Amino acid sequence: IKTIGVLTSGGDAPGMNAAIRAVVRRGLSRGCKMKGILKGYNGLLNEEIIDMTAVDVSDTIERGGTILYTARCAEFRTEEGQKRGAEICRKHGIDALVVIGGDGSFAGAQKLANLGINTVGVPGTIDLDIACTEYTIGFDTAVNTAMEAIDKVRDTSTSHERCSIIEVMGRNAGYLALWCGIANGAEDILLPEKYDYDEQKVINNIIENRKRGKKHHIIINAEGIGHSEAMAKRIEAATGIETRATILGHMQRGGSPTCKDRVYASIMGAKAVDVLLEGKTQRVIGYKNGEYVDFDINEALAMTKSIPEYTYEIGHALSHNYSKNVK
Ligand code: F6P
Repeated sequence: IKTIGVLTSGGDAPGMNAAIRAVVRRGLSRGCKMKGILKGYNGLLNEEIIDMTAVDVSDTIERGGTILYTARCAEFRTEEGQKRGAEICRKHGIDALVVIGGDGSFAGAQKLANLGINTVGVPGTIDLDIACTEYTIGFDTAVNTAMEAIDKVRDTSTSHERCSIIEVMGRNAGYLALWCGIANGAEDILLPEKYDYDEQKVINNIIENRKRGKKHHIIINAEGIGHSEAMAKRIEAATGIETRATILGHMQRGGSPTCKDRVYASIMGAKAVDVLLEGKTQRVIGYKNGEYVDFDINEALAMTKSIPEYTYEIGHALSHNYSKNVK
């Protein structure tokens, strides 16, 4: 392998720059030429390809977003788009590609590999919804950002003796919601994977808590359930307690990455290059049982993941006051 390309694809995630930096610097130090592909697979199809030196990634590890920009590319889901992508790689001398993104981006990498381009995926998403890994780049920063925002909502919620529904991102996955639910001491945590949402139970819980003297009631609602505004209106009507919905939105994707995201992203990015230079292709980097590992991309895409039962149970148990005397 002489030339390695790197791109970021799908939703951006804090720490992606640390991964790009690691790919570029590890590749250069191992004698490869490095190229950056701008705007994900879109940029590949438009040949937005640049040479990358060590200096190009200076002063980027602490920055949120992705210096390569990112996009979701419908054309790359077609066979024609994939074939054109592989031809463009060959035209630019790119014989291997590191794709930093989520499952959708890995599916693109899988297709390119079938067309003769060596590929490795690096898990980058705030959603933590990639089955082959316990860690994804950006989750740690996003969950901390959301946690801090929720603390702030709680302050004003308590002052006004309100109920607050706070919606966090995660698409169809509830990891951000579960972690925030526990970290913020929420009274209710609503996850799409546990679609046992019984609004009457939530309403009863709010009324009970108010009788016990609780000043606030924080409900963390996952994006996968959504409809927070309508939920707030129904809850207010049923309880008589002022209820507000806050949708945290894209602020969860921004900001300077945490130490964990910088370090894990750096190691995963470097490992992607090492894996390619070992002669492997069609791999996905993961973090499992305390180790950085790599999986076959087809196996990785076929894996499934679910909310850890014990964590869910504890999150749920700690969010309710079972003793009548406890406030
Ligand atoms: O996958 C990351 C994510 O932020 C999800 O949590 C969310 O559902 C989605 O991307 C939002 O996408 P967009 O930026 O296209 O609105």
